[in-house]
Amino acid sequence: MRYLKLFSILIILSVLIVSCKQEEKFDEKAYSAEFNGYSTEYLAGLKGILIKNMKEGGPLKAVKVCSDTAQALTNLYSDVMGITVKRVSYQNRNVNDTPDEFEKEAINKFAELHSQNKLTAETEILKKVKMNEKEVVRFAKPIFIEAPCLNCHGDANIISPAVAELIKEKYPNDKATGYKIGDLRGVISISKVLE
Ligand code: HEC
Repeated sequence: MRYLKLFSILIILSVLIVSCKQEEKFDEKAYSAEFNGYSTEYLAGLKGILIKNMKEGGPLKAVKVCSDTAQALTNLYSDVMGITVKRVSYQNRNVNDTPDEFEKEAINKFAELHSQNKLTAETEILKKVKMNEKEVVRFAKPIFIEAPCLNCHGDANIISPAVAELIKEKYPNDKATGYKIGDLRGVISISKVLE
């Protein structure tokens, strides 16, 4: 009888432990879907502004608008969604877009995959980390250079002199030129603090 009691207590305990573990389990699939949603929406918003202004006034107008709105839009989107979105790169134009440790790791990994022709637009890194005593989910995806990007991120002979001048004026330490189509431009980085 005593054994039976002990046995049932053990069973209850193991069921409890298993169910607690399951609750703690990091639901990677759900976070991936959520973060991919943010990434697509935010980048589409930014691209929409870029395309609209390129159509209306060419790259010169687009640089004017982008330099004023890119950071504001990024911060606004982050606030509204309760996350932190960034676009970061070693060769940044805006120094605010300097990568932190997680983002450097992501860029290095993506660059390595890219050199082996294994990097795609779907490649992502998702991790739960501790930052300032809080659990944070971090996410990164690559950003590639496409043809229209060369107007402002390509070689010096592609960027028009007026655009180059304005970029120099707004970003004296610009490092974001000299790219070719298909290059890894940087990463989109999203973090969410878990309550
Ligand atoms: C009209 C000029 C223009 C075009 C075209 C353009 N960009 Fe940019 N890009 C900028 C400017 C200006 C900034 C800095 C914005 C800021 O201050 O936040 C920037 C910043 C970025 C950043 C953030 C990192 C950094 O360097 O500060 C990424 C990533 C980026 N661009 C990728 C692209 C990609 C990919 C394309 C093509 C789809 C593209 N850009 C097209 C002007 C342009």
